Amino acid sequence: MKIAVGSDHGGLELKEEIRKHLEDKGIPIKDFGTYSEDSVDYPDFGKKVSEAVAKGEYDKGIVVCGTGIGISIACNKVKGIRCALCSDTYSAKMASMHNNANVIALGGRVLGKDLAKEIVDSFLKAEFEGGRHERRVDKIIDIENNML
Ligand code: RB5
Repeated sequence: MKIAVGSDHGGLELKEEIRKHLEDKGIPIKDFGTYSEDSVDYPDFGKKVSEAVAKGEYDKGIVVCGTGIGISIACNKVKGIRCALCSDTYSAKMASMHNNANVIALGGRVLGKDLAKEIVDSFLKAEFEGGRHERRVDKIIDIENNML
């Protein structure tokens, strides 16, 4: 499994923690930035991660901004992306199992680093259940394709 990560300045510190956490587990990752504490715009980094995931270059994405809100909104504008803003492990697991989320967003100014790592692990470990959830995700895709 290959993972894309990215953040703005508000998520930099937590993104670095997550990057190291995944590297320690031997999971191949690409860090799309930002790489310094200089102020940047979160949509730029949500877009880079989301486009790489949508193109199939990476299996899943993890994005971080101050709250996780702005970058999650940006990611969900990229066709093919289902980004879930998660602040607990149960939601992260369900985001995979029920929503087939391919990106999660975290709040760097909201979450402690240990909880954030557990959220990431829950998201990556869980698998989409399909079945009735597939029908619902297909309906989301229909909305995206303006087919409803
Ligand atoms: C940047 O200060 C902050 O607005 C951003 O990181 C994020 O929280 C936006 O949703």
